[in-house]
Amino acid sequence: MHKLKDSQLLKCCSYINGSWHSSDSQFDVLNPASGAVVAVVSNAGAPETELAVRSAKAALAMWSAKSANERAVLMRKWFDLMMENQDDLSRILTLEQGKPLGEAKGEIAYGAAFIEWFAEEGKRVYGDIIPSAAGDKRILVFKQPVGVVASITPWNFPNAMIARKAAAALAAGCTFVVRPAAQTPLSALAMAELAERAGIPAGVFNVVVGEDARGMGKVLTQHPDVAKFTFTGSTAVGKSLIAQCASTVKKVSMELGGNAPFIVFDDADIDAAVQGAIDSKYRNAGQTCVCTNRIFVQQDVLEQFTDKFTMAVAKLTIGNGLDGAQIGPMITSSAVSDVEKLVADSIAAGATVIFGGKRDPAGENFYQPTILTNVTNDMPIAANEIFGPVSPIISFTDEAEVIALANSTEYGLASYFYSRDIGRIWRVSERLEFGMVGVNEGIISNPAAPFGGIKQSGSGREGSKYGLDDYLEIKYVCIGGLNK
Ligand code: SIN
Repeated sequence: MHKLKDSQLLKCCSYINGSWHSSDSQFDVLNPASGAVVAVVSNAGAPETELAVRSAKAALAMWSAKSANERAVLMRKWFDLMMENQDDLSRILTLEQGKPLGEAKGEIAYGAAFIEWFAEEGKRVYGDIIPSAAGDKRILVFKQPVGVVASITPWNFPNAMIARKAAAALAAGCTFVVRPAAQTPLSALAMAELAERAGIPAGVFNVVVGEDARGMGKVLTQHPDVAKFTFTGSTAVGKSLIAQCASTVKKVSMELGGNAPFIVFDDADIDAAVQGAIDSKYRNAGQTCVCTNRIFVQQDVLEQFTDKFTMAVAKLTIGNGLDGAQIGPMITSSAVSDVEKLVADSIAAGATVIFGGKRDPAGENFYQPTILTNVTNDMPIAANEIFGPVSPIISFTDEAEVIALANSTEYGLASYFYSRDIGRIWRVSERLEFGMVGVNEGIISNPAAPFGGIKQSGSGREGSKYGLDDYLEIKYVCIGGLNK
């Protein structure tokens, strides 16, 4: 029915301790493009989540005792299997999430790349020997896995957001439990099937799928056997999960919301800026935390940029992601309603729609790629994370003004600017209060780079050598009595 080369990749129940667990109740996974049922999945809850945590705890001693090299061999097999099955994995991803098939293929390669990268980086977990103040003592620093890692991952990247957490955790010697979003459990379960085929031992990688977000979340954030909790999702939910983690003082890392500025200075290559804005805004129908949220254009090039950008947006095709469209559906009809409200409230405040601005005839979950002008930084469309395919354009006159405008948000995840002035590139990169800055580049994500935010966009980093540190504890060992 789903035209998979390997139908065994479509799994419909949780993967705990190396086996597939069905439950009494079930839920439907829907295709956001059509509303059709893609699969009926066993509805796990808090008891299965508890079981997964206990399994991860039981597997911890065995997994952490393996050498980094032994873990890397298994992770490399997992990477190879993901790439060998890229077509099926991307088809499953598009069916449950809606993004265009080409983007889904990109996501599978992106997710797999974290597994490959961390498998290697796990071999470079170095400790230290620190010169001691006393001649008869030595100061040693060990780095050790934090223990069981629990995570909750979002629907917008059903593969890659799991891969980049799990890869770092497994490479560090931790075991892992994930509760993927209930809208998109199938990609996570397909990853589990491939982890099993790769020979990752039972209990090391567990996936619990179910609709009881609150009950499952409580287990993952409060269980005493969980040492670290990691979440990707909204800032509002992240704050309450951090609070829940407090009772057992877990190590937490949070990848939360964003409100990315995209600044076009008057010395920019305007064609490159247009392409960068298209890439960073309309990827995944605007549903990424790093999507451009506010486009600031310097007054002198406002008309030129707006005309070229509008022509480029007009070329984007909208429709079912399996049929070659560039803009797929949004995840749900209520997500479209949220965007409609932001647009309507901003029009009421004085913004003008110059392109799009409506639900699309392609279906209930489709919103047209949209451009708003005459926007100010305090309008709802600029003050909130849009998470949809809408570009608000705001004009500015000078560098100091735009830096102040860009920074006036509680978020601090991604930011972008286009300029060819080397002095400005340094100045603006240093002054933007964001964890990530794309300079003359709209796509900045990459396994070797530290992905993460400051302010209310989160804490911790994913990807890169810094991302591995988030899964390691530092232990100080003092050896004394050496002169006796
Ligand atoms: C996200 O939306 O949180 C992830 C986007 C990315 O990894 O590029």
